[in-house]
Amino acid sequence: MKNQIKYGKLRYVSFIILDLLCLLLSNLSATFLYYGQYTFDKIFADFIPVFILTFAIDVFVSLTLNTLGNVLRRSKKKELKECVTHVSASFVLLAWLLFAIRYGIDYNSGIIYFTYLFDLMLLISGHLLWKYLLKSFCRKKGSVFLMTTNRFAEEGIEEIRKKGDEVSGVCLLENDNKKQIGDIPVFSDIKEALAFICWQNVDRVCIYGIDHQMVPDRLRSGCNALGVGIESVDFDYKILELKTIVNSDPKYGALSFLEGERDIPFPIRRVYWITETEADLHRGFHAHKLNCQLLFCPYGKIDIILDDGSGEKQTVTLDGPGKGLLLMPGLWREMVWRESGSVLCVLASEYYDEKEYIRNYDDFITYRKENQ
Ligand code: TYD
Repeated sequence: MKNQIKYGKLRYVSFIILDLLCLLLSNLSATFLYYGQYTFDKIFADFIPVFILTFAIDVFVSLTLNTLGNVLRRSKKKELKECVTHVSASFVLLAWLLFAIRYGIDYNSGIIYFTYLFDLMLLISGHLLWKYLLKSFCRKKGSVFLMTTNRFAEEGIEEIRKKGDEVSGVCLLENDNKKQIGDIPVFSDIKEALAFICWQNVDRVCIYGIDHQMVPDRLRSGCNALGVGIESVDFDYKILELKTIVNSDPKYGALSFLEGERDIPFPIRRVYWITETEADLHRGFHAHKLNCQLLFCPYGKIDIILDDGSGEKQTVTLDGPGKGLLLMPGLWREMVWRESGSVLCVLASEYYDEKEYIRNYDDFITYRKENQ
């Protein structure tokens, strides 16, 4: 609720002031154009009453059409459409009202036409200029908005800080009602997160520990409209402890489980398993460009040798149902069966696509260099 007020409703203040300023300026210009110069009488007779009425209508139309909310994070084309709709609605309402009370106010219809013509021009150019100024001069260098999951939030903040950047806000997928991490505000609603990104003049959005498919479209399009870049700050792999329930009666064994997009940061598109193997079998020798995977060995013992192209290799041994290995794309792997009959299970984020594989080691090294 606090965040909603802080980054929700108040985020349009500068645009509301700008909107009213445009209206005031256009009204003054129209009055000036008609009378050449102001006399005290004319100001009281025409300008002030019509301005008050126009102002009230403008606020009413802004609220009912949510003009400012719609304009703020839109592309130029949508902004133009929004401004025209807003001004047209206000104009029709004002014309109708003045017609209804025409004998009460000494107004000049020419002033009304010109006011709205000027208002439309000022509104479009003013909004674009204000957005440009905010983007050019108020963007805080090194201020990062983090998008991640509950599980990787703290780690992600650490990673960004290690690079010398500051995390100003976090959006969590599958948020379990966290409102803050330390003094960093936490969001789960994308609309609110975008308002924060816009209002706080965040430099860029970083994705940590989630598959590309989990980045919400709304965040992508919102960042696009704001001109804020999205980049990935990822780890190569992570050993995960899988939830396991061991029954007190040994004959029931153990039950392990995990849920896509909750326990692992990707939707499960494909599952495969390798069985009936002999000891000392070597398989793999490939990397993926897109595919995120979770590997586990519910029976037996398998070594996974990982290579990030830097020359140093890491070995992770999978030897039980409660241990999972999360592999992000871009990592060369070799699997070595340490015991015959060991079973390797793989959950994958992508459907099988041979084009997404890198099967040649030299190509892999080139790929890593290009995607560093
Ligand atoms: P491959 O990826 O070469 O296995 P490994 O790297 O462990 O040696 O796959 C072996 C074959 O299985 C290959 O012809 C492609 C096929 N395959 C599918 O058709 N669908 C799949 O999901 C997988 C993993 C493999």
